[in-house]
Amino acid sequence: MKLTKRLKTIADLVPQGYNVADIGTDHGYLPVYLIKNRIAKKVIAVDINEGPLENAKKTIKNYKLEDYIQTRLGSGLSPIEPGEVDIVIIAGMGGLLIRDIFLDNRNVVGTVNKFILQPMVAQDELRKWLSQNDFKITDEKLAKEGSKLYEILVVSKGEMKIQRDIYYEVGPKLIENKDPHIHEFIDGKLRKYTEILRTVENQDTIRAKEKLLECKEKIEELKELRGCL
Ligand SMILES: C[S@@+](CC[C@H](N)C(=O)[O-])C[C@H]1O[C@@H](n2cnc3c(N)ncnc32)[C@H](O)[C@@H]1O
Repeated sequence: MKLTKRLKTIADLVPQGYNVADIGTDHGYLPVYLIKNRIAKKVIAVDINEGPLENAKKTIKNYKLEDYIQTRLGSGLSPIEPGEVDIVIIAGMGGLLIRDIFLDNRNVVGTVNKFILQPMVAQDELRKWLSQNDFKITDEKLAKEGSKLYEILVVSKGEMKIQRDIYYEVGPKLIENKDPHIHEFIDGKLRKYTEILRTVENQDTIRAKEKLLECKEKIEELKELRGCL
C-alpha cells in the first residue's frame, strides 16, 4: 500500500507498538498501512458515514487484516471506550470539527496519550483552542501534495505558551524544526493577506478598515518571521 505524501507524513508520526484510532477513516488506507508496516498493534477505524466505512471494510478485507483493524460507525471518539487506544488520528477534517470532537468526548480524550491532527481549515483556531485547553503541540510538520501544503500537528496533554498571535497561524514547531516547506508556507500566507488587503483597501466600510489594519499587521508579522528564519 502506497500512501499519499500527506497520509505518509501522518503515518511516520505514529510511534510503534500502540493501539490507534483513525477517526474519519474513509477509505481505511491509514489503518491498513499502520498494520501492514507493523507500526500499530491494533487499529479502530471510525467513520460517521456508512459509505466511507464500507469502503474501509473493503480495503481491510482486501488485505485480510480484519483481525487487526476493527471498523466502527459513529461520530468522533464516541465509538471508542476510555482507555481503548493510546494514539488518535483525526485527518482531513476542519479545525473546528476537530475541536468539537475533543469537546464532545472528554472522557475518552483524557485517556489518550497522543493525537495526530491534520486540519484542512481553521488551523489557527484549533491551535488557539488547544493552547487554551491544556494541550501542547509537541511536533508539527508540513506535507506537500501538488501545490498544497497540509499542516500536521502532534498533540498531547500539557501546557503550551504561545508568545504571539502569529504563532497560531504559523506553528512554532514549524519554525523551530526549520520545516523544509516553511518559507513556501509563509509566502503563501503573505500572498493571501496581500490579496485581501488589495480587495479591502478601496472599500469605505468600518469592517473593511478593520480588515485592512488586520492584514497590514499580519503582513508585518509574517515578514518579520520570515526574516528570522
Ligand atoms: C475528507 S475525509 C478524510 C479521510 C481521511 N481521514 C484522510 O485524511 O484522507 C473525511 C471523513 O471524515 C468523516 N467524518 C466527518 N465527520 C466525522 C465525525 N464527526 N466523526 C467521524 N467521522 C467523520 C467523513 O465521513 C469522511 O469519511
